[in-house]
Amino acid sequence: MSDKLNRNLWGGRFKGEADPGFAELNRSFGFDRRLFEVDVRASIAHCDGLAGASVLTTDEAEKIKSALASILEHGRVNAGYFDELSAEDVHSFVEARLIEMIGDLGRKLHTGRSRNDQVATDLRLWLSEEIDRLALALRRTQQAVLDLAEANADAVMPGYTHLQRAQPVLFAHWCLAYFEMLARDRERLAEVRARVNVLPLGAAALAGTSYPIDRDAVARSLGFAAVSRNSLDAVSDRDFCVEFAGAASLIMLHLSRLAEDVILYSTTEFGFFELSDAIATGSSLMPQKKNPDSMELVRGKAGRVFGHLTALLAMMKGLPLAYNKDMQEDKEAVFDTVDTLRACLDVTATVLANIHLNETRMRAAAAQGYLNATELADYLARKGMPFRAAHETVGRIVMQAIERNVELNDLSLDDLKSFSPLIEQDVFRSLSLEQTLATKSQTGGTAPESVADELISARTRCNTGSQFEVP
Ligand code: ARG
Repeated sequence: MSDKLNRNLWGGRFKGEADPGFAELNRSFGFDRRLFEVDVRASIAHCDGLAGASVLTTDEAEKIKSALASILEHGRVNAGYFDELSAEDVHSFVEARLIEMIGDLGRKLHTGRSRNDQVATDLRLWLSEEIDRLALALRRTQQAVLDLAEANADAVMPGYTHLQRAQPVLFAHWCLAYFEMLARDRERLAEVRARVNVLPLGAAALAGTSYPIDRDAVARSLGFAAVSRNSLDAVSDRDFCVEFAGAASLIMLHLSRLAEDVILYSTTEFGFFELSDAIATGSSLMPQKKNPDSMELVRGKAGRVFGHLTALLAMMKGLPLAYNKDMQEDKEAVFDTVDTLRACLDVTATVLANIHLNETRMRAAAAQGYLNATELADYLARKGMPFRAAHETVGRIVMQAIERNVELNDLSLDDLKSFSPLIEQDVFRSLSLEQTLATKSQTGGTAPESVADELISARTRCNTGSQFEVP
């Protein structure tokens, strides 16, 4: 098919051929062929809608549908089907194939629809299904987080603020922090999906269709939950793309933070994690190197997805109602967001399955550097000292320990008592790593019992999913 045929889409009004440079810029078939399957399915549903409205006879509708079915089959089995052709976009491609196959009857299919409502329909249909797949990938990543936590249930590590050692936490608690982020992400995806899953078809170019098409029936046959309520909005709304890119950006942000933690903890300086060879690379120059490229790529690709979100927002912000060709730019952003997200979710799940802990080193790091100082302040507060005063007292104790180059538990009872008479023998129990963890036993804290409970409930939540999700 040539540009000449494309010109036939709007035929009468035009005499000359399109400028080749413009024709190339105008063409979206190079990327929107990914919508081929949904475009054909939407056309089949539209055909039924036209038959229901008596625009087509049952016989005509059957002929069109069987031609569309064979076009779909060609596209599925014949990889070269799309290659040699220079169609403008997927919609004109399918229509041209239909007309090639069944002649003038094929020209009836475009009654009561426009490429404007077609493209919005196709993209929504495609994205709904991709979101379902992404939700599954997200769940697999959550499962990998939980597997890692369960396999290392007793491991302890320093918790950080400002990247300075703060208080000890269970390694599983660190894992569950990422589980929570991903749980919110799954909810968000499901909420976005509900707004994606609305049918624009029937809006025609912008004003609505003049044929008595049962839009609700068309929606049902394609699996849409609702029909758009305003034709101008239906063809010009890309909120669903922006929302999706927004939800995807947050997922990437979470994966990127996880990646950064993994990268950091795998350094010689931290030495908490060792990554399997399967997810690391070496250096072409330095023989000793083992680099966490997998996680660096995930971190890097977050920027790329944020870029798509920004591109979509910028693309939409100045558009007058209704459809404008600027909106053709939506697809590459959405496609690449889906692809990048899926790849990063999968690789992250693999990385999580390939992390080996150096538990001894992690525990030693958690026991060194006064991570029990807060516990000591709490000890004094429990004995009646106002917390601010306890904080001040412990600050002075820490200062002395630093000067002597020892940990708080290495100070003698007499030393400790010289700071406050409230301190007694039981202080050493409070200063122990175990006790420091055990006191954080309220919901959401890092006490081993709380974390064990959370792990169990996280498994259930992971398997049952969110109330918004399509089962
Ligand atoms: N290829 C176009 C897009 O992706 C389809 C809609 C074209 N509509 C039009 N009136 N030119 O947005």
